[in-house]
Formats: sequence, C-alpha cells, structure tokens
Amino acid sequence: MEDLTPRKQDLDPIEIASRDEIEALQFHRMKRSLKHAYENSPFYRNRFIEADVHPEELKSLKDIAKFPFTTKQDLRDTYPFGMFAVPRNKLVRVHGSSGTTGKPTVVGYTAGDIDVWANLIARSIRAAGGRPGDMLHNAYGYGLFTGGLGAHYGAERLGCTVVPISGGQTERQVTLISDFQPQIIMVTPSYMLSILDEFRRQGLDPRQSSLKVGIFGAEPWTNAMRQEIEEAFDMHAVDIYGLSEIMGPGVAQECVETKDGLHIWEDHFYPEIIDPVTGEPLPDGEMGELVFTTLTKEGLPMVRYRTRDLTRLLPGTARSMRRIEKITGRSDDMMILRGVNVFPTQIEEQILKCRGLAPHFQIELTREGRMDNMTVHVEAAPDRVDADARAKSAKELAHHIKAIVGVSTRINVTDPNAIARSEGKAKRVVDNRPKG
Ligand code: DLL
Repeated sequence: MEDLTPRKQDLDPIEIASRDEIEALQFHRMKRSLKHAYENSPFYRNRFIEADVHPEELKSLKDIAKFPFTTKQDLRDTYPFGMFAVPRNKLVRVHGSSGTTGKPTVVGYTAGDIDVWANLIARSIRAAGGRPGDMLHNAYGYGLFTGGLGAHYGAERLGCTVVPISGGQTERQVTLISDFQPQIIMVTPSYMLSILDEFRRQGLDPRQSSLKVGIFGAEPWTNAMRQEIEEAFDMHAVDIYGLSEIMGPGVAQECVETKDGLHIWEDHFYPEIIDPVTGEPLPDGEMGELVFTTLTKEGLPMVRYRTRDLTRLLPGTARSMRRIEKITGRSDDMMILRGVNVFPTQIEEQILKCRGLAPHFQIELTREGRMDNMTVHVEAAPDRVDADARAKSAKELAHHIKAIVGVSTRINVTDPNAIARSEGKAKRVVDNRPKG
C-alpha cells in the first residue's frame, strides 16, 4: 500500500498546535457557545436555570461538568424545531435520523454550520490520505441521513471529483468503480463487504481496483474487519466517526499514517468521557460514554450531549488533538447474557478469526423460560459450504466466543448470501425476546 501521509504544510495549523493553544481556543469558543445557547435557545435557557448554572460560571474547561446533559430524548421532546438557537429561516438545511421508534430527530444547519462541516470533512479526507484532484466514490446514503451530503460537501471542499452514487445498486457501484477509477471510497464498512462480494461475483480482482483508501464509519467495526478489507482490496481502511446531533460524519477521523484511533476535531467539539451510570466525568484513558459539547455550532448548539457510544480518550499522536479508541458499541446495543456484557463488535472479531466463515452475520436474541439465549447467524465462506466444514466452523466460533467473550452461544452457519445485506448501517442484533 502506498504511503499517503499528508504533508505537514497541508494541514490546518490547529491540527498540530500545542495543547495550550488548543485548550485556549476551546475555552474561548466554549464560553461563546454556552452564551449563545443560553441567550438564543429557550430550551437551554430553561435547562440552565433549572440546573442553577449560568454561562458566566465557566472559568475553565473542566467547569463544563457543572452544566446539565442533553440527550436524544430532549430532541424528541422538542420535535421538530424546538431546540434551535436561530430562527427557522436561518437554517439552510435539515437532516434527521430515523431512529428505531416513532418520529425522527431533526437537526439543522446555518450556512456557517455547513461551511464548518465541509471544512472538517475536507480535513478528515486529507487525514485519511485523500488529496485535491482525487476521485471520490461516495456510497453513503444521500437524504435525511447525514452521511451522503456531509461527505459530498467536504469532498468538494478538498477539491476532489465526487461520484454521488449514494447507497444501493451494488452492481452499478462496481461498474462505476471499474470505469471511473476512483482513488477513494466513502461507505459503511458493512456495505463495503457487499461491494467486495460483487467484485468477486463479476470475476474482478478487487486488489486490482483503483481504490487506495476507504473511509468507513456510521457503524461500529473492528480492527479485524480493517485487516480483512485492506487485504481484499490492497487499500488503506480508516475510520470516520460522527453523529447527526453533533454535526454528522467528521467529528473524529483516523489518520492514515497511524491508524491508531480517531482524532477528535477538538477545535470544534469538546469531548468528555463519563460513567454511563452515575454521569460522573472519568479521567482520560478510562472506558465510558462519550459526551460532546459543540464549540462553534450556530443552528443547534449542543451542551454535554450524551452519545451513548462507549470508548476511551487517548492522547494525540499524528495530530495534537486527542483520540478516541475505535467505538466498542453503543450502550443500547450492549447485550447482557447471564451477567456478561456482550457487544456485536466482539462477535465480529471472533468471526473474522474463522477461515471457514464470511464476515456477514446477525445476532438473534431469544428467551426460553427465564434464560436469554444468543444465536449467531453467520454465512459460510463460499469455498467451505459442505456440511462437515460448516459444523467445524460453528464449533470453532462457539469455542472462540466462549473462551474470549465469555458466553455460550448457538451458531447457525448459513448458506452464502443468506444474511440480509444492508446498503447503509448493518442491523446486527434482532431481539426476538418477548416484550415487557
Ligand atoms: O452515522 C454519521 C456518519 C455518517 C458517521 C457517515 C460516519 C460516516 P447518525 O446516523 O446520527 O450519524 O448515527 C450516529 O452512529 O452515535 C455511533 O453510534 C454510530 N457511528 C458513527 N460512526 C461510527 C464509527 C452518522 N466510526 C451513530 N464507529 C453514532 C462506530 C459509529 N460507530
């Protein structure tokens, strides 16, 4: 794989500024942002008054812990436009997330917000190894989802040629990659696997494709999956993180030269890790729930937004800004089986160790009596479909999961292509336990 480390002179100076400079900027921006929220969002004004805090009380960055949290429920309760800090006619765009139940949550952007977002995605693509002039195949979904348009504006800002194909039409994705010869692809890692299958189905060697970098995010994925994709395509696979409530993709990005977790663009987002149960802030290095305060958002400033994503904060490496470790999962995706906490990423990691299995899987939860059971449905690798090979793979996977994750599972090794493919975020868990 080619060395795609960006040149120092191409970086934004703040990416490699001293910690003191970064923190001074954060403090200045945080003060301004809290004041903006208090003065212009009736929601935040009430929240701060209820919590008996005032933006003037922020004397250092750590004082952010005095302020109340914001949750997804707050967005639902104020649906659709109740949390904005600017009049609706100052928003140039809205996005939304479908969520699992009921109404979507709505987020909105001023022209200034869109401008910052484009700059941060441009910075992210550059950190991933992209350059002005590269062609970028954008297979994130266009629409209310932030992935498609978010990536699109940033790619244009960097000076790339964007192919706005969106998700789906997998056969066509491969045709366009073959014909247009893009260097970069942006897509969910699970959908990248479908594209990989389609390369093979068409008799094309993915290692001969023009792709040099894949920028994968919107769902948890593991280093084992990184290796799988990098080997299959002979390309770099780097992680991009974000969420609609904070902006969309591009809140944090992994650097191609280190691939050691994602640098948070701390000049725009202030991160904390909290204990998900008590809400207490935890020191850097400890695992907990990621919380963000936006520092520059105009339309929808967020104060201490609880992401539900579990990770830890690590010091900067390729950039001065702190990193998050790859997201383990969302607290909502955590399954508890006989007292053991299990995340789909842990299952993914074990599946990728088994040569006889393909990385397409879904976890089913059922209840028998008082016992919760977990079945892992996973596809046989195309060259290991006979009954003996499948039984062997099932046994091997059950053993790895028991030994490393610590739970007993049932394994169902299916035919190739039996697991539903996603064109965006994969649905990893199906909960068939009785409700209530
Ligand atoms: O998924 C934004 C995005 C689009 C990020 C494209 C990266 C690429 P939402 O639909 O609001 O926004 O979902 C946000 O997705 O809280 C995480 O749980 C999960 N997520 C996003 N990126 C990653 C990642 C977009 N790199 C939610 N690793 C977040 C793990 C991720 N989980």
